[in-house]
Amino acid sequence: MFDELRAQFFPYELKPGITAYCLTNTAAFWNEAGSLMNAIFPPYATLGAFRQPEERAAKSELLARLFAQAHHEYFVFRSAGGEPVGYSYGDMRDRATFFMTSSGVLPQYQQQGLYSGFLKRFLSYLYALGYERVVSNHQTNNRAVIIAKLKAGFNVTAVNLDERWGAQVELTYLFHEDRRQGYASAFSLEAQHTPVSHA
Ligand SMILES: CC(C)(COP(=O)(O)OP(=O)(O)OC[C@H]1O[C@@H](n2cnc3c(N)ncnc32)[C@H](O)[C@@H]1OP(=O)(O)O)[C@@H](O)C(=O)NCCC(=O)NCCS
Repeated sequence: MFDELRAQFFPYELKPGITAYCLTNTAAFWNEAGSLMNAIFPPYATLGAFRQPEERAAKSELLARLFAQAHHEYFVFRSAGGEPVGYSYGDMRDRATFFMTSSGVLPQYQQQGLYSGFLKRFLSYLYALGYERVVSNHQTNNRAVIIAKLKAGFNVTAVNLDERWGAQVELTYLFHEDRRQGYASAFSLEAQHTPVSHA
């Protein structure tokens, strides 16, 4: 849908030898991202969070197909040798809002600037597409991703409680100064410097 514009931003070298690639084939994405998630996160079942029973998946097949038609983005970060070392994906939530669903970097590649490098490039791309807000939810003790996003210019916009994911902090990046001022005035906040990460 956005191939021409996306090609201006990706593939993108995050650091020498590590490049972020956009994947338009979702099966290929999940093949790589699934293995990465297993290596990055503890097994989902150990968290004891709610999971929809498999037998109900068929009933929601039509809804799944409808959702698949929305704007989605899937990225894998690969080493020069082609080894997948990180991923990120998300989707449109409304006409102004892109939701970053999940991102991860293999432990041995963390704290080398891969995520912050990707985030800056990705924000610039989403801005070029016309989005006005970028939202994400994170477990409230996930300091690595919360700090990385605060540094990039996201602000806390909510704390959510959810039977699937527990307590999550919602972070939002606003592309336009009027929205940033709207955020501050809606909550009567003191003016604070907010980093701008999109080009
Ligand atoms: C969150 C995550 C993707 C960050 O990736 P990364 O490539 O290591 O991040 P970066 O190297 O770009 O770090 C960016 C900033 O985040 C902060 N940060 C990164 N890791 C941190 C940590 N473990 N503790 C505290 N701050 C951290 C630092 O301030 C860093 O900036 P600096 O380099 O100027 O100090 C990575 O830690 C990860 O994969 N975690 C496990 C999966 C996860 O929790 N994903 C998010 C769920 S949506």
